[in-house]
Amino acid sequence: MSRIAYVNGQYVRHAEAAVHVEDRGFQFADGVYEVCEVRQGMIVDLTRHLNRLDRSLRELKMASPMSRAALTFVIREVLRRNRVRNGIFYLQVTRGAARRDHYFPAPDTPPTITITAKSTDPSVAAKKYANGIKVIIVPENRWDRVDIKTVGLLPNVLAKQQAKEQGAQDAIFVDRNGIVMEGASSNVWIVTPEGELVTRPAEHGILKGITRTTLMDVAATLDLKVAEREFKIEEMMAAREVFFTSATGICVPIVEIDGKPIANGHPGTVSASIRDAFFDIAEKTPI
Ligand code: PDD
Repeated sequence: MSRIAYVNGQYVRHAEAAVHVEDRGFQFADGVYEVCEVRQGMIVDLTRHLNRLDRSLRELKMASPMSRAALTFVIREVLRRNRVRNGIFYLQVTRGAARRDHYFPAPDTPPTITITAKSTDPSVAAKKYANGIKVIIVPENRWDRVDIKTVGLLPNVLAKQQAKEQGAQDAIFVDRNGIVMEGASSNVWIVTPEGELVTRPAEHGILKGITRTTLMDVAATLDLKVAEREFKIEEMMAAREVFFTSATGICVPIVEIDGKPIANGHPGTVSASIRDAFFDIAEKTPI
């Protein structure tokens, strides 16, 4: 079965899917995206992801490419055509194709919209959950509007690559005052020695993760206390647990930071119980 992608109104073979050479996403990273998990034939938290897409588009003064109903139809169609039961879809909207010029193109320039989907093997994720991951700390070097989910991810790419070259899997951005920001493609949480869940406020300086928001609903059902406040490297290193949240990993335990173990160096029980409850609590949209 060949993979299918959606490009500007058409379902095309993935291998042949392409956008214009002067697409503004390609030339200026002038575009936004969303990644959504699919599990057991259900799209996880679709409404929240599409709400955030609308916000990203608004912040960049870009028009929505189509109505919510049409977009939902196309997403489900791409998942169906690729027979995804467990995996993700990736959706990207750019300001369209136009002769290269930094100013916005003419208002009637149609946005470029692409949607791809891929299956993932749940056993790979299970292994990650069982072992936890190693991360490195990198200095925050991104622009001021990382609250918008743009495709301008070069610092994130460089941070992840650096992690890989140092024998770790991921990276955490920390600002010049030692305050923990977020992962290269995830939000960061700690469990304090008192058992409180802490994550930094998301109004500014990080992406407000959808998994992060839903995790708060999950914590409430498990009677876990959540605090939204800043924390520094030292507090993170002394935490009982540290974990990442994102649509691709849901809740991934971190067992080592810059070569030093977190707690006993093994994944903790709080992140495991959250992960177990997550799918039940999250919104599920059938494909
Ligand atoms: N990344 N912070 C950053 C910088 C991210 O790129 C992501 C997600 C998150 C978590 O957001 P959410 O819970 O809505 O997935 C936080 C996606 C998965 C990616 O780029 O692949």
